[in-house]
Amino acid sequence: MSTDSLHALQRTSLEGLKLDWSYQFLTPQQLTDYASKRLPENFSDLREQLIKGCFENKSEGRQVTHTLSRSTESVVKDPKTSKFASIVRRLRSGNWLGATGKPITDIVNVGVGGSDLGPLMTSFALGEFASDVQQHKVTTHFVSSMDGGQLYAVLPVVNPETTLFIIASKSFGTIDTFANIDTVREWIKPAFYKAGKTEQDWVKDHIVGLSANPKAMTDYGIPAAHQLTFSQSVGGRFSMWSAIGLSIATTCGVRVFERLLAGARKMDEHFATAPVEQNIPLLMALTGLYNREERGINNLAILPYDGRFRHLPSYLQQLDMESNGKQCNHNGEAIDYPTGPIIWGGFGPNGQHAFFQHLHQGYDSFSADFVLVRRREGPQFTESVQESLAQQQDLSVANCLAHRRLMAFGYKGDSARDYYPGGHPSNLLVIDELTPETFGALIAAYEHKVFMQGVAWELNSFDQPGVERGKKIAVDVLKRMQGETDTSFDPSTEAVLKG
Ligand code: F6P
Repeated sequence: MSTDSLHALQRTSLEGLKLDWSYQFLTPQQLTDYASKRLPENFSDLREQLIKGCFENKSEGRQVTHTLSRSTESVVKDPKTSKFASIVRRLRSGNWLGATGKPITDIVNVGVGGSDLGPLMTSFALGEFASDVQQHKVTTHFVSSMDGGQLYAVLPVVNPETTLFIIASKSFGTIDTFANIDTVREWIKPAFYKAGKTEQDWVKDHIVGLSANPKAMTDYGIPAAHQLTFSQSVGGRFSMWSAIGLSIATTCGVRVFERLLAGARKMDEHFATAPVEQNIPLLMALTGLYNREERGINNLAILPYDGRFRHLPSYLQQLDMESNGKQCNHNGEAIDYPTGPIIWGGFGPNGQHAFFQHLHQGYDSFSADFVLVRRREGPQFTESVQESLAQQQDLSVANCLAHRRLMAFGYKGDSARDYYPGGHPSNLLVIDELTPETFGALIAAYEHKVFMQGVAWELNSFDQPGVERGKKIAVDVLKRMQGETDTSFDPSTEAVLKG
């Protein structure tokens, strides 16, 4: 981006969340022209269908209803009668007793992909809002990976008699999740047998199931009272607003969860009604499309400048890449144009000391989304600590703005060493103050951006056949490892299997 294309301030906002797209290549007029070229004629209808929960997921033959989990089908629509809310309250008040009569002190969410990333990201980001009603300390942990890596860290610090496991799995069949749960079952046995209890007692009192497959939960032995269900039509990567968000509520409280949904609903209304030039998700989608299609930029770096957003890049990787990383359109036909970019990134201030060198002077093109929280207060600290933290906040804001400028405008010093090409487009998402509402709105904005880009590329953004194929191959390899077949593979694979 040369200084010739330095545009005037382009900024739009929604209740404490601002999108500044001044550092994109498009001028407002070009953006409007591009929108008329890239938005299909029936885009308004498709958008309305999404918001009303009747957009069609063609390859899986069902509707797409995640927006309803924050409106008409919300698990906390009536917090007084909600099963979700009553489970959270029992756990957070110390009234949920384990099989040996002791109150639950630790909760472990066991799930992967959409059954992990959204709850983990949001619990971490909004953890400081947890102070509301918790009379009894309950700590929530997250376990996802099939290698059991997180169990090594979590199991030694929790007590089998006071730990409740959430099995979070839309399908209730994901091998990664059940591999972790099988290990947990081995781990609880000594304590339970010693106390004269059985594994069935453990399942009954120490498991809550979250799934779109109630039969599988019942078959597993989970009593109906400890099952929370959601619809098959809520995609896994869009499910943190549904029952899958239980661990967000056990961490932060039901009220915070309601506020999160309220923020997302605001973004739904905004997406549905704001004109293109003021519509945050549409602007993100259109500038992203332009970068991908017209500038050939194949990646987007997510660079949050606030530690509470640490898990945002991983969350957006699944949301975007699992949705739009495809070479087949929604009619099942091969396509020959580029689709969703590679999403990557990391916590900005640490990224500065790791990969920013490449961003400033490396060969490759990229685009970036900087995410900044403008104000943060720490009333729990003394005045002098608060002042020091405020200075740190200024330092972080200054660094974010500085690196963003250098990436956009570059710099030419006296030598090759002092040359920074610039020309890298970026968005700046500024959150005045992090609240459950602004966080919910931000995540919903990304969901709608992904939806709109999927529509423009004529994709079905709601399936993931590539991942399913990988899982099938893994089963073949595992069978061979366990001696069930004698299928042979390529030499490199064979070397490991025989090693
Ligand atoms: O990665 C494939 C996938 O199906 C994701 O779409 C999903 O979020 C994840 O696996 C976990 O699936 P489940 O919630 O059914 O265990």
